[in-house]
Amino acid sequence: MNTTHSYNEDITKWFSVAACIYLVIGTGIGVYIASELAWPFLNFDNPYISFGRLRPVHTNVVVYGFGGCVLMATAYYVVQRTCYVRLWSDKMAWFTFWGWNLYVIGALVTLPLGYTQGKEYAELEWPFDILLTVVWLAYSINFIFTLSIRRVSHIYVANWFFLSMMIMFTYLHVVNSLSIPVELMKSYSIFAGVQDAMIQWWWGHNAIGFYLTAGFLGIMYYFVPKQANRPVYSYRLSVIHFWALIFGYVWLGAHHLQYTALPDWTGSLGAAISLAMIIPSWGGAINGMFTLSGAWDKLRTDYILRFLIVALAFYAMSTFEGPVMASKTVNALSHYTDWTIGHVHSGALGWVAMISIGALYHMVERLWDTRMFSVRLVNVHFWLATVGTAIYITAMWVAGIMQGLMWRAYDDYGNLAYTFVESVAQMHPYYAIRMMGGLVFFSGACVMLFNVVMTIRKTVKHHHSTVSVITDNKAAISVKPGG
Ligand code: HEM
Ligand code: HEM
Repeated sequence: MNTTHSYNEDITKWFSVAACIYLVIGTGIGVYIASELAWPFLNFDNPYISFGRLRPVHTNVVVYGFGGCVLMATAYYVVQRTCYVRLWSDKMAWFTFWGWNLYVIGALVTLPLGYTQGKEYAELEWPFDILLTVVWLAYSINFIFTLSIRRVSHIYVANWFFLSMMIMFTYLHVVNSLSIPVELMKSYSIFAGVQDAMIQWWWGHNAIGFYLTAGFLGIMYYFVPKQANRPVYSYRLSVIHFWALIFGYVWLGAHHLQYTALPDWTGSLGAAISLAMIIPSWGGAINGMFTLSGAWDKLRTDYILRFLIVALAFYAMSTFEGPVMASKTVNALSHYTDWTIGHVHSGALGWVAMISIGALYHMVERLWDTRMFSVRLVNVHFWLATVGTAIYITAMWVAGIMQGLMWRAYDDYGNLAYTFVESVAQMHPYYAIRMMGGLVFFSGACVMLFNVVMTIRKTVKHHHSTVSVITDNKAAISVKPGG
């Protein structure tokens, strides 16, 4: 069935380019805030660029700007190709594009100005919460109606993952954002105390589980088999790990709140379910990796495939690390330390960004119907991203474990062996190393943006020259009879 020409490709193109731009901005800010931690004078006593305000700008731009644009580009791309139909509504799709960008720009403007609800990953004030809900619903409804008009009876597994993300994200975002507005840019959460903490981390971990994991597994299930040109290793495994994953994730939130005012059993439950989550997580990682069985040699030449497979290795690693950190014994050491930041970025850089980058290169080649401007630069990007991630996370592991051990060290008289500020001073070299790892990763993102722009320019130029050839021909033809 060849319906390629009736797909809405423009929306995917715009979201893909936006994603590349946000990756550069988001990681650029990441490098800056990493530098502020290493060299605090970079705050310049200026509130607008202080670490406290720029940190949520970083997280919002990478998670919503970059991650969100990737999720929208890929979901629109995949649903059309697996259902053999054009998107249900083009207008709604464009609404999601402009609405989503408005949200991200809102973060870039309002957070430095100091407007915040102080809820992590949900900092923006209530008007933006409403905007996010409306845009997200438009995205979900468009996706669901496109599924409903599909020309095949089967719904491909990637779409199941996207769908679970859409439903859960709506639920989580709406409940977590319930608040009473008092002014245009000020509101109070309806939750207080321990309930507020619990709701915050129910949202927080499920944003990781459904948005940063299920959504990107949807990407994995389409792009790994496509790029490798092989069927998914086990369709049955994909269905089993899908249900296990979405049933398990919703119980995990309390592992962010071990040893707090929460009832102890909630933390134990969170830790126990976290441990069990290794199985469905590795089910996905193994399914993706084994899709390559018998074709591992492709990794030697296919740089796009390298991104996708290394992403799965990081996914497996961070979903092993997470359950370990969730246990009370390990969390007693790791909580509040940079180990958490290392874990976050092994998931965010190694898994989320790598799988996205692989999918973006794959889509760019198909959407513009050409090869990348420079395949060598894709390989350069691969190494910059991998080495940058490795430097970042190893620096944070060392820093985190050192902090944890210094904070709990006692001398012979039972006094703390170190003051807090001594532990801060010890961090300096590791913060500098992390900044350098980030810089390496960031330069990879710049290489990608350059390569994508040049690829598009190449096809546009090519298009122009074809047009002029056609005009020339016409001229030639029209000249002939008279001449
Ligand atoms: C089975 C899988 C996983 C489990 C059980 C898990 C568990 C944990 C635990 C225990 C923490 C530290 C909580 C604390 O002490 O404050 C944490 C933090 C975090 N994890 Fe994971 N993790 C998993 C996978 C992932 C993945 C794949 C990502 C990908 C992006 C990720 C992103 C994060 C983030 C962003 C935080 C920091 C939250 C914050 O404090 O702001 N996790 N995770
Ligand atoms: C060049 C790359 C990057 C650098 C240098 C960087 C740097 C940083 C820094 C310095 C922090 C604050 C850590 C702290 O408070 O101690 C941070 C937090 C965070 N970053 Fe990044 N980042 C980068 C890329 C990314 C990407 C691509 C993502 C997501 C896809 C991401 C997601 C996050 C999250 C979720 C947090 C909050 C973690 C928490 O609260 O536990 N980062 N980043």
